[in-house]
Amino acid sequence: MALINDHYLKLKAGYLFPEIGRRVNKFCEENPSAAVIKLGIGDVTEPLPPAIREAMHAAIDEMGNPETFRGYGPEQGYAFLRDAIAKNDFQSRGVDISADEIFVSDGSKCDTGNILDIFGAENKVAVTDPVYPVYVDTNVMTGRTGEADESGRYAGLTYLPVTAENNFVPALPDSPVDLIYLCYPNNPTGTVATKETLKQWVDYAKANGSIIFFDAAYEAFITDDEIPHSIYEIEGAKEVAIEFRSFSKNAGFTGTRCAFTVVPKELKGKTAAGVTTDIHPLWNRRHCTKFNGVSYIIQKGAEAAYSEQGKQQIQSLIAFYLENARLLREGLESVGISVYGGVNAPYVWLKTPGDASSWDFFDELLQKAHLVGTPGSGFGAAGEGYFRLSAFNSRDNINEAVTRFQNVVR
Ligand code: MLT
Repeated sequence: MALINDHYLKLKAGYLFPEIGRRVNKFCEENPSAAVIKLGIGDVTEPLPPAIREAMHAAIDEMGNPETFRGYGPEQGYAFLRDAIAKNDFQSRGVDISADEIFVSDGSKCDTGNILDIFGAENKVAVTDPVYPVYVDTNVMTGRTGEADESGRYAGLTYLPVTAENNFVPALPDSPVDLIYLCYPNNPTGTVATKETLKQWVDYAKANGSIIFFDAAYEAFITDDEIPHSIYEIEGAKEVAIEFRSFSKNAGFTGTRCAFTVVPKELKGKTAAGVTTDIHPLWNRRHCTKFNGVSYIIQKGAEAAYSEQGKQQIQSLIAFYLENARLLREGLESVGISVYGGVNAPYVWLKTPGDASSWDFFDELLQKAHLVGTPGSGFGAAGEGYFRLSAFNSRDNINEAVTRFQNVVR
């Protein structure tokens, strides 16, 4: 009989969001008249901006014409999109990233998982706690961990707690690690990293020969001029970091799928025999072998995100979701809840009232207010006693959610 990948059996229950979905579906079946408001998964609710839709329509027409029809595109992404990304997201901020260091893909979730393909299984891996669960689960799947303990922490991973006690700034690891996942603006806590904090990590990585996986999927929500949008704004980061970016949360592509990963040419690793090796060609090889590129239509839509109109329309979307975050934050604070994040990020992270456990509070909110959030403990042991609310929803739903939340905790 065929052998399975046993490492999958170490995974705790289901992936967090499907697990929440199961509980919510059960509740809805039992309470069919309940008007449930979902602030759980960070999925956008506003339509694609007009400039993007127009570009997609035009691309569909091109695909319907034999003169302009296209089959396979370049696996790394079309030059028009890679150029637009390099120019607008990096060079405009004084960061020297070139188009051929950008790999267009169908999502940062996939890329942050797939990146492990090109790194040895023996690497020591550090994650913050709480953390976006994909980083941990993909390490488990690829055999880089032992079993989970009672709290859900896997043997072999280095966990760096981020809580109100340390102001959500992870301490540098006590013992050397090779791969470090950082996510800023942070999912789930909605907090950001200053230049000084990122510099510490870049310096650490340089001193220890580590590589940072920097997930910047939420960078468009940064409103504070002092906060870096890219880790490459820190000197020397191109030698030690891979950055993940996405069109999902800024331009509304969670359903249409487009993202990109930056692998600088300066980045090096070493072979088992100790030979220093470039990382860029490895990722290029992996990408070209296992991926056939994002559809032309979607890439044309993503390119339009950088047009003058596209930029303005995206700015309005971001402002809309950030206003939702403000309403959530202030509405919760007004009834005495301790709230974090939600200023430079679409996530509001809160301390559960009365020290309730994260899942108990999830159940209470669902039962009493028909509100769905995400239990902090689902993001890691140090998230216990916290809860995440997503600002991605209609204004009416956000206002209604605040009222219902206040009624439960008052
Ligand atoms: C989240 O809610 O944490 C995100 O939507 C998950 C994701 O982007 O994959």
